[in-house]
Amino acid sequence: MRIRPARRLRGHIKGLPGDKSISHRAAIIAALARGRTRVENFSTSADCASTLECLRRLGVGVGREGEGRAVVIDGVGGGEAGRWSFRAPVGALDCGNSGTTMRLLAGVLAAQDFAATLTGDASLTTRPMRRVVEPLELMGARVLTDEGHAPLRVEGRRPLRAVSYEMTVASAQVKSCVLLAGLGAEGETRVVETSGPTRDHTERLLEWFGARIHVHDATEPNGRPELTAHHASVTVEGPATLRARDVTVPGDISSAAFLLAAAALLPESDLSIDGVGLNPTRAGMVRALRALGADLRVVNARDECNELVGGVRARGAGALRRAAGHGGAVRGGAVARLIDELPVLAVVGTQAEGGIEIRDARELRVKESDRIDATVRNLRAMGAEVEEFDDGLRVGGPTRLRGARLASFGDHRIAMAFTVAALVASGESWIEGAEECVPVSFPEFFELLESVVER
Ligand code: S3P
Repeated sequence: MRIRPARRLRGHIKGLPGDKSISHRAAIIAALARGRTRVENFSTSADCASTLECLRRLGVGVGREGEGRAVVIDGVGGGEAGRWSFRAPVGALDCGNSGTTMRLLAGVLAAQDFAATLTGDASLTTRPMRRVVEPLELMGARVLTDEGHAPLRVEGRRPLRAVSYEMTVASAQVKSCVLLAGLGAEGETRVVETSGPTRDHTERLLEWFGARIHVHDATEPNGRPELTAHHASVTVEGPATLRARDVTVPGDISSAAFLLAAAALLPESDLSIDGVGLNPTRAGMVRALRALGADLRVVNARDECNELVGGVRARGAGALRRAAGHGGAVRGGAVARLIDELPVLAVVGTQAEGGIEIRDARELRVKESDRIDATVRNLRAMGAEVEEFDDGLRVGGPTRLRGARLASFGDHRIAMAFTVAALVASGESWIEGAEECVPVSFPEFFELLESVVER
């Protein structure tokens, strides 16, 4: 993919495709419910298509309605609490590139009375899965792996044991896996998040579908929000009966982030995006961009289907001047709130006075690619000064980036982050493999970008 530099971004985007994290959960939770659920603005991502296909293979009725993005799910939770009429699949369930599909479905399958195998593509089968095997085995399921990697063979058990599980990594996927398994356990299943709250879409949707959920968020403020210690815990009562209830999915902030970042960097840009999900456990990018000096405003914030939604307007400033009192670092509990936005935030950091330092983000090494390595290599290819750490990186700024030949590493977010970098660089860039991987989360990205870019 060839990317030419841009002058500015101008426009108003109204129908941003639905959030990927919320769409996965809406489909899975609707499948577990009694009755029919209509999910509006379902994600157009290949990842969420993988979730729908796995659910179909498990005997769930999944249909598309009209030309739009609505998906209709016929739940298999019609019988007793904590019992579902899934069909045991023949052959392995293919999760494609999607870690969320694999880890969340592992939790669902753990509570069934059959065995099923989850597999995925070359990237997904190298990603760590012990993090879900451990809690599911404590609950009484058996999960076989290839040395901690997929394929995962999940031998379910009914009912599961309710446990209190302290997470060893800050991962919403692990938390969600345990909570979903907890729907089929006898008693209260509790997940403790020792390194701070991760995205809470599962809790919110389970509540929406009538599960009994209790959230306990003990915060110990110490005057520095990024260093605040959190001990959050979530409890779900099993065995549970969920009731179908229509859901509208907010626009994906992790997709919006690339467009907003580009608008913030290109002088005279003025870009508005409506209906973006702004859940506080997820929307760290808004705050981080502002802290670097970007002009970002939220308008018309409201609650929709138990999620915070609003419009975001970004205006371009060119070189960014850091907000007073901001040290130019992202670390600690703040990392979970913008984990998927860190590559593009590093790109933005190259244009900010004083640059940016990102720490406590070791998890980036086990995403769809090693995102620390990928970001460092591409930034260096564009002439940025970068220091790499085991758990993050530091970039200097402001730096004039030069167009270069860049690698996507087969990772959608790396491809989009460096598209943004290429827009603000001098001279054209080429990103290898971008077209193939971007549809994993945001198939409309290049088309939408072209509709607002001015050269
Ligand atoms: C996700 C959680 C995060 C995130 C991923 C989606 C989710 O992963 O990086 O893109 O939908 O729960 P972890 O749970 O591994 O941190």
